[in-house]
Amino acid sequence: MCGIVGYAGRRNAQPILLDCLKRLEYRGYDSAGLAIVGDGLEVFKSKGEIAVLEASMPAMKGTVGIAHTRWATQGKPTTENAHPFSDCTGKLAIVHNGIISNFMDVRESLVNDGHKFTSETDTEVFAHLVEAEFKGDLMDAVFNALKRVDGTYAFAVVSEGSGDIVATRRESPLVVGLGDGENFIASDLTALLKYTNRMVYIHDGEVVRVSKDSVTIKNEKGELVTREPQKITWNLEDAEKGGYPHFMLKEIFEQPEAIHDSLLGRVESVDVEPFFAGNIFSSVKIVACGTSYYAGLVGKYIIEELAKIPVTVQISSEYRYSSAPRENPLVVLITQSGETADTLGAAREAKKRGNKTIGIANVVGSAITREVDHVIYTRAGPEIGVAATKTFVTQLVALYLLAMELGIQNKSLTAQARRSMIGSLRNLPRAVQDVLNQAEVIEALASKYAKARDMFFIGRSINYPIALEGALKTKEIAYIHGEGFPAGELKHGPLALLSKDSPVVAIAVKDRTYEKMLGNISEVSARGSPVIAIGYEGDTELARYVDDVIWVREIPPVFSPVPVIVALQLWAYYLAKARGCPIDKPKNIAKTVTVE
Ligand code: AGP
Repeated sequence: MCGIVGYAGRRNAQPILLDCLKRLEYRGYDSAGLAIVGDGLEVFKSKGEIAVLEASMPAMKGTVGIAHTRWATQGKPTTENAHPFSDCTGKLAIVHNGIISNFMDVRESLVNDGHKFTSETDTEVFAHLVEAEFKGDLMDAVFNALKRVDGTYAFAVVSEGSGDIVATRRESPLVVGLGDGENFIASDLTALLKYTNRMVYIHDGEVVRVSKDSVTIKNEKGELVTREPQKITWNLEDAEKGGYPHFMLKEIFEQPEAIHDSLLGRVESVDVEPFFAGNIFSSVKIVACGTSYYAGLVGKYIIEELAKIPVTVQISSEYRYSSAPRENPLVVLITQSGETADTLGAAREAKKRGNKTIGIANVVGSAITREVDHVIYTRAGPEIGVAATKTFVTQLVALYLLAMELGIQNKSLTAQARRSMIGSLRNLPRAVQDVLNQAEVIEALASKYAKARDMFFIGRSINYPIALEGALKTKEIAYIHGEGFPAGELKHGPLALLSKDSPVVAIAVKDRTYEKMLGNISEVSARGSPVIAIGYEGDTELARYVDDVIWVREIPPVFSPVPVIVALQLWAYYLAKARGCPIDKPKNIAKTVTVE
């Protein structure tokens, strides 16, 4: 996720672009830059937040320009990899939000044609493609360049001597803002609200030419499109969080897109093959903290099911100081921030033990990426809320992909089984969207139970760690004492805690443990505790056993943790809202824990 913005008008573009860019900083903040068309075409960019760019940049003169704030996905967060990118002539500049999945092939062919690249990014190929296709009209060049790229994108292009911005999108957002004698483009209308509230949404495959006095949209076939602007009623305050009251809620709602991005160009492989070459792993150890640890626990079930190799999971601070057993596992370190001190220490320890290491991280170029042999990025985009939500779900996606690779490598997974898993992975954004569509129902339910002091979460098999994660979310956001248990363990002690005042959230999807789960739910009800179940749509039997139900779409059980955790994230969020908690910044905890 990155943010792009463009301005074509009569005023000096530089301060306007910077101002708009700051409102997009939630979309990325590892580097930023802008390109201004004045007497010539000037590009300035730098590593770090927009404030760093602002402090270091020269005054640039010109009334047309584009700007970008980056969240790295391909290529480290450096000045060289910051946008905008120029072509070989330096006469055009582009910015991009998205991922070009076939960039390696395109780059190779452009290099063979003599193009010179200055960065490691996927984006730069588009600058050279537009250069190669330019025959005098920028819009035509963009149309032709698009024929050679796959993936998701919102691009904006400017060129020397022209008053136009040409922009296009596919599955990444793009809006045009209409002013008087000036027009804008942006990834998010919230960036433009200070200047205009009249917006035109650009659709997938369309290309738009924006100048100070005109906006021309063409569809994929090159036909002119007429679209009425919409009047937006949001104020600037709403804009900070894209209209959501909290970053946590916004990030929960971004999950279909985050899953989609994390799968893009990867369902056939997560690029681990070269890393695997010659190494057959007979066991895996996953090491992480907090929510990432729970993702690891889910990963154990996934890898054991798909790749049939034993997996152990350990908390980073415990692993670091444990004694090394004789085995030589593949060690997988999961950390969204990539900066968690305990997990960094664990990575060093794994190296010391001579183990091969893979990191699963969300922040490109973060410290963990320098400590491991191979990195799988989760592509969730920046997560601002302290509670991990979309990074957890995309960690699960990375683990499904890794498990499939391990399964293929050791021949436990057939090509046909893999194809069917890929189909299920591709359906996950829809299953998540179904849950999001029930937000109001979940809010009403959460308000009913929000006064509880204690709350228990039970699950079995692959949904046992999801019960743990649901409990953690409830603790950290809603300040309710939440505890997760494997449902079969209740009778070995925890049943003693139950009463009518302690609601129990039971995950009861139809898998091989379903009947046992119904038995555990009966044990709970017999102690007078209200039960809120999460089950598969249409399960009338389950509804008879419990007080309330949150439904998720029926999908193969190995994938059920994804929609189920989204339901529990909303549950925790609405409990916290009903209790008036400071949701994005819960007391006593930090987003990134850089101390031991
Ligand atoms: C989860 O909501 C937490 N804020 C916390 O448990 C977090 O997952 C943990 O600190 C690990 O962070 P990391 O993924 O950045 O390493």
